[in-house]
Amino acid sequence: MSHPLPILIINGPNLGFIGKRQPAIYGCESMDDLPDMVQTVMGEKAARIDLELYQSNSEGGLIDRLEQAWKDKTAGIVINAGAYTHTSLALADCLAWIDIPCVEIHISNVHARSNPLRHTSLIASSCIGVIAGLGIMGYAYGVQALFHHHEKSAQGEKSAQV
Ligand code: DQA
Repeated sequence: MSHPLPILIINGPNLGFIGKRQPAIYGCESMDDLPDMVQTVMGEKAARIDLELYQSNSEGGLIDRLEQAWKDKTAGIVINAGAYTHTSLALADCLAWIDIPCVEIHISNVHARSNPLRHTSLIASSCIGVIAGLGIMGYAYGVQALFHHHEKSAQGEKSAQV
């Protein structure tokens, strides 16, 4: 049996108190509910991933952690960069160079929110996909998507060797 796939979940600013922060927008579920949700979505395949969660309110902290993920050869990243999604060229530059398969997440449906700044993302172009508006469950779908992406790439590499 191969090693579990290392997947990093990164939350940016103001995402440390999800479940308590503006529940009308972000819901009552917290990141503590995520392991059960991953289990629900992935079933027995959940045992084949190794999840780590990191949260920082600072842009530099997020970039340092992403660089560490590159050093560690982390297989995939689920990232909710919070407001930095819409503003941080530095974060976008980092995701572009580390070149780790990444899924952008938003708990709320940013496209349905009134501030048009929330409709833009500087990081989406470096991601394999974007999930918004599905609450904490969105992270579980992101993990599943990365697992599937990895399986497909591994199969592609195998058939290229034949
Ligand atoms: C968010 C949406 C962002 O616009 C906002 O700044 C956040 C949370 C979300 O998960 O819905 O902090 O990323």
